[in-house]
Amino acid sequence: MSTHADSKPWTVPALRQAKQAGQKLVMLTCYDYGFARTLDAAGVDLILIGDSLGMVVQGHDSTLPVTVEAMVYHTRIVARGLARALLVADLPFQADATRERALVASTQLLQVGAQMVKLEGAGHKLEVIRFLAERDIPVCSHLGLTPQSVLSFGGYRVQGREEAAAEKLLADAIAVANAGASLLVLECVPSALAARITAAVDIPTIGIGAGAQCDGQVLVLHDLLGLEMGHRRPKFVKDFLAEGGSVAGAVRAYAAAVREGSFPDAAHSY
Ligand code: KIV
Repeated sequence: MSTHADSKPWTVPALRQAKQAGQKLVMLTCYDYGFARTLDAAGVDLILIGDSLGMVVQGHDSTLPVTVEAMVYHTRIVARGLARALLVADLPFQADATRERALVASTQLLQVGAQMVKLEGAGHKLEVIRFLAERDIPVCSHLGLTPQSVLSFGGYRVQGREEAAAEKLLADAIAVANAGASLLVLECVPSALAARITAAVDIPTIGIGAGAQCDGQVLVLHDLLGLEMGHRRPKFVKDFLAEGGSVAGAVRAYAAAVREGSFPDAAHSY
């Protein structure tokens, strides 16, 4: 099967075709117009307006204070900078607590340029995923270390290390795919488990601290550029600015490393 052409805008169905063709997907977070233009021109396939903006843009110590209003603002300004990349926007904390709230927030995000919304967790979120997908709102699921659960987790820790937890994560991944998710982010999951999940679902998996066998990778832009954010850097973070020489060079170096399978290596995986 042929791979997605460099010049063609991404669509939701094209993501699944990329997985079938073995084409690695390159994703980065982004929060404003100028970076959006740079990332798009450098060949990034998917842009995520992450609620990580609460930490790297707004200076909070978690993603919990981020509002739908803030997500709508950043989605609108990033969307203006994109020609090719597919735009995914996070549903912030509790915006997906009920199907109705999720529908309202997702509609707002799609109306300002998002093409998919991302939401964390499985369990009671399965009915939210199904509800949105049935209403033509493409959904990206996020499993593993889900930062909105930081209070329940008691910190930011690798998930799925024990056998029972690994089996639960695998079952959750299959469940979100069956509920209608089009994409699945796996955060801070042992590489072997992420590889099992990637083989078990027919939607693309995007890893962050989940090993090289996912169908694609995502990083927080500020981490890729080596910016000091005042907290301990997770193992999976790599500063690509040093080798890239410029912002565009760093993004191109990251994209090339993801596509050739050299990032993440064992030193950046669990
Ligand atoms: O908010 C975010 O930036 C994210 C990524 C870490 C996947 O969810």
